Amino acid sequence: MLIRGRRNRVSEGIRSLVREHHLQVSDLIMPLFICEGINKKSEITSMPGIFRLSSELIVEECRYLYSLGIPGVVLFPAIDDTKKDKTATESWNPDGLYLKTIRAIKAAVPELVIITDVALDPYSSDGHDGFVSDDGEILNDETLPLLARMSVAQARAGADIVAPSDMMDGRVEVIRQALDENGFTNVGILAYSAKYASAFYGPFRDALDSAPKKGDKKTYQMDPANVREALREVNLDISEGADMVMVKPGLPYLDVLRAVSEISDVPVAVYNVSGEYAMLRAAAQNGWLDYKKVVLESLTAFKRAGADMILTYHARETAEWMKK
Ligand code: PBG
Repeated sequence: MLIRGRRNRVSEGIRSLVREHHLQVSDLIMPLFICEGINKKSEITSMPGIFRLSSELIVEECRYLYSLGIPGVVLFPAIDDTKKDKTATESWNPDGLYLKTIRAIKAAVPELVIITDVALDPYSSDGHDGFVSDDGEILNDETLPLLARMSVAQARAGADIVAPSDMMDGRVEVIRQALDENGFTNVGILAYSAKYASAFYGPFRDALDSAPKKGDKKTYQMDPANVREALREVNLDISEGADMVMVKPGLPYLDVLRAVSEISDVPVAVYNVSGEYAMLRAAAQNGWLDYKKVVLESLTAFKRAGADMILTYHARETAEWMKK
């Protein structure tokens, strides 16, 4: 045999020399759930190890994540049912939970990149990402000004990057214009461009109690069977001014991630979503999988498929492992 593939695998030293992709702590973004109250910490049942934290605990957590070398966080609020309405009014209340917490994080850890979520669902009495008409239709164009207003309020509170996760058409352009008109020319847009109508979001909706009251999200989120359509969405968002694009979910969509990373001329993020986290946790709790090994293997797979950054609930633990 002239050629033996195994020669390049004979020792850890050689394997590390020929390794093509490297996972780094600086690739990771940690999603955090914020709740009302003081010193409140409640575990999400379907996401063991992940907690809803009240404001001052979130600030503490952000300090810790930054000390681990994690460059950014993405924030989601658990809003009281009594504050939800059809137009997500609470989302631009400067004294509301979300904006207050953003200001507190910015003051405490100014270097940490704060990424905010732009969509109606956590604040919506309908549990949809857009405005719902009386006959149950999710109205695109009526939603856009609400998203713009939410984005500007988040930027004013200190968001470094706003991340529209709503999948309305034309939102990136409207948000870009609104940010610029209000002087936030340096606030970036991370567009959830290829976001699929996925059942893997289940635990997230438990965490925020944000599941749709009626119907599903299939008229705005993408059909899991499509990949060409993902490229179209990515190209549209880039042409509307997106600074970064995202593929979501992650592990079941690595082919989409690869395709997007090949055509995108802006950085590509992937969201390793709540259901993916829950699967690995549950298997590990049963003793069926080696948790640390499957997490590192999964996160490396995102790098191999072309991700520049990874939103993952494993970020905190991974950073701790990599520090040692
Ligand atoms: C809502 C939003 C969702 C997630 C992030 N933003 C859920 C949804 O679209 O229903 C899911 C994240 C996860 O599952 O971890 N705009």
